[in-house]
Amino acid sequence: MTEHIATSERRDDKPQRWTLALADKTTQVISGKGARQYLLSFLKTTAAQKLLVLSDDNVAPLYLRSLTSQLQAANYQVVTKVVPAGEATKNLQQVNTLYDLLLQKKFSRRDILLALGGGVIGDLGAFVASTYMRGMALIQVPTTVVAQGDSSLGGKTAVDLAMTKNLIGSFYPAQAVFSDPEFLVSLPPRELSSGLAEMIKCLLISPDQPTARNLLAGLPTDFLQTRVGLASLVAQGARVKSDLVQRDFYDFKERRYLNFGHTVGHAVEALAAGRLRHGEAVSIGMVAILQALVTHQLIPAQLLLLVTTKLKALRLPTTIPATMTSQQLLAKIALDKKVAAGQVELVLLHDWGQPYLQKIPLTKLATWLGWSTC
Ligand SMILES: NC(=O)c1ccc[n+]([C@@H]2O[C@H](COP(=O)([O-])OP(=O)(O)OC[C@H]3O[C@@H](n4cnc5c(N)ncnc54)[C@H](O)[C@@H]3O)[C@@H](O)[C@H]2O)c1
Repeated sequence: MTEHIATSERRDDKPQRWTLALADKTTQVISGKGARQYLLSFLKTTAAQKLLVLSDDNVAPLYLRSLTSQLQAANYQVVTKVVPAGEATKNLQQVNTLYDLLLQKKFSRRDILLALGGGVIGDLGAFVASTYMRGMALIQVPTTVVAQGDSSLGGKTAVDLAMTKNLIGSFYPAQAVFSDPEFLVSLPPRELSSGLAEMIKCLLISPDQPTARNLLAGLPTDFLQTRVGLASLVAQGARVKSDLVQRDFYDFKERRYLNFGHTVGHAVEALAAGRLRHGEAVSIGMVAILQALVTHQLIPAQLLLLVTTKLKALRLPTTIPATMTSQQLLAKIALDKKVAAGQVELVLLHDWGQPYLQKIPLTKLATWLGWSTC
């Protein structure tokens, strides 16, 4: 076992805490083993009497009862709502159902909506919290890698409309986020590795290069079985996201670095029509960009090799499926919201931890990426 992993394990033992200042709000983040134990002490600092705990039908059987018992034992009035798991739940009908429930149970603005689940539950719950009575208190208890390292932080809320992901939403940070890696134990392996693609992306754009390098280089080949160092990886991803959203809450510049690998990734994900998870498509997208950067001699080939090796060790795909043509991919990229005036905005790297935004004309993109267009 390497020195790096031993260090990671020591860090896994105690939750890290930090405060995010986002627009006029702050988010207390508690991340690490046992983080959920800090929920009650945080609640005592609020004026809440009631909590609506929102979860999905995969997460609820595992974790809802112990959470509600803990809250009830502390004399909070608890209402629970369990919705079907999956992206299809992020819709305006669910939003209406939740508004009705909050009204019926006489929730006030100072009462809390607690989102217990992955990014779907977090996005849906946060959207409802942001709009009910112009904004009620919100706590996130994220249970996936994506939710712990990404979606629970930074205040973007969303539901889908007319088959378009995240079309309706708001910026509304949670008051607190309790990210406990113990929830990840029950996460199916494919969800775990898919989420880890986003954490590897965070390592690549992380300004804390030594830590990021150590975490990635130290990721053992049997990581999916042992999950050693998982908490450190997710916490580091969360740190990178936290830093970027603090610098650019409304997504005009630095926050966009989080889109590394996403332009090609989104096109691949759309063409895969449900056969690839988001993180799997992002894995392919990151490698496509790194390959182009190596070809243009803008980054060292070792960086591409290291990243590809680690992604493969996580059983993530790294090549564009042979069934997808460049024309199809370009047609999808042309629909990307980052396309304006015939140019697409890509996130590129000068080197590890040095991301930048670059506009490339759509007409030159295939050549730049080294794709054949015949
Ligand atoms: N707001 C943001 O900034 C932001 C950022 C990234 C992603 N997102 C959104 O997040 C969503 C994706 O999040 P996700 O990947 O967490 O998906 P998800 O919420 O659908 O969770 C993935 C699956 O894992 C299950 N699950 C969750 N926790 C579990 C656990 N501990 N044990 C066992 N099963 C568990 C869920 O029921 C679901 O089936 C998308 O809707 C995306 O748009 C939002």
